[in-house]
Amino acid sequence: MSRAVEAISRHMGAPPETKQQTMKAVRIHTYGGPQVLKYEDAPRPQPQAGEVLVRVHAAAVNPVDWNVREGHMKDFWPHKFPLILGWDLSGVVEELATGASRFKIGDEVYSVPDPTRNGAYADYIVVRESELAFKPNSLHHIQAAAAPLAALTAWQSLFDTAQLQPGQRVLIHAGSGGVGHFAVQLAKWKGAYVIATASTKNQELLRELGADETVDYTRQRFEDVARKIDTVLDPIGGDTQERSWQVLKKGGILLSVVQLPSADKAKALGIQAVFVASHPNGAELAKIAELIDSGDLKPIVNRILPLSETRRAHELSQTGHIHGKIVLRVKEEQS
Ligand SMILES: NC(=O)c1ccc[n+]([C@@H]2O[C@H](COP(=O)([O-])OP(=O)(O)OC[C@H]3O[C@@H](n4cnc5c(N)ncnc54)[C@H](OP(=O)(O)O)[C@@H]3O)[C@@H](O)[C@H]2O)c1
Repeated sequence: MSRAVEAISRHMGAPPETKQQTMKAVRIHTYGGPQVLKYEDAPRPQPQAGEVLVRVHAAAVNPVDWNVREGHMKDFWPHKFPLILGWDLSGVVEELATGASRFKIGDEVYSVPDPTRNGAYADYIVVRESELAFKPNSLHHIQAAAAPLAALTAWQSLFDTAQLQPGQRVLIHAGSGGVGHFAVQLAKWKGAYVIATASTKNQELLRELGADETVDYTRQRFEDVARKIDTVLDPIGGDTQERSWQVLKKGGILLSVVQLPSADKAKALGIQAVFVASHPNGAELAKIAELIDSGDLKPIVNRILPLSETRRAHELSQTGHIHGKIVLRVKEEQS
């Protein structure tokens, strides 16, 4: 502190703002490979009207994070550098701006924040109140952070878009992945008949999640097993999506979260085909938390890494063969 500042602060008492103004964050300053992820000091954000400042305890990694990092989303989302990545979090309410009244300081919350703004690879994040829900009581922050984005994607695909009904037949590709492991459990909870795909090492996991039938895509063609399907959930695209048309019955629905299915093909076959882009929704996260607390839904945490090892987390996620979720521990001492 300079002498002048010291003299002024002695005269005026402690400065009104004694809170730490910087925080640790993982930011990118340019698009590129994992090396562009920088663990560094960043300004602590300030909540504006209707917003909440959350102390992040844990943040999950999703494929969207490295898609943004590599610049694949730049035509859709107007990001500015430096950018904090990571749109999946669990933490504690630290500060409320005017107009934010549903939560109070100290509440434990989880969220999918707006992916067009700074993310959760940081000590603090500003989130709109509508994007927050109380975190499931039965989970600690590490497990809770694993749920929001992937579970919300599965929920919005199967329930909001496909209107999945009890007794319907659903094929879930990549049932062991982030989105897939929630989709299998949610479809079972709804009372659907679930067929799920994964490689050999994940067959047991698919059964534990509740799948009625499993397909090892390295040994079997799913179209030889799955027939008369009402709903296909496709988190893979390409050849997997192309071969999925034939398993659907007329009037069925092909949901893809990765690649827009052909409208022409859908029309010709009498099938509905939809690209689902998930979006933040605190109210739906509250329902998901209820299912977690009642034991109907469980996030699987595959790996926990400290925030400073985000590069490693991205490299693992980019293999495309991690089951469950990778979670970054942001706050060191956690309950
Ligand atoms: N549109 C949206 O709103 C939205 C939201 C979330 C995610 N997504 C996208 O959805 C995709 C999946 O996301 P995610 O988080 O679920 O990914 P993920 O967790 O990284 O998926 C990995 C899983 O995929 C399985 N897998 C890989 N190739 C497979 C194949 N050919 N057939 C069946 N399973 C296969 C792997 O199982 P094995 O190791 O056994 O192969 C692994 O368990 C990503 O492209 C992501 O960007 C989109």
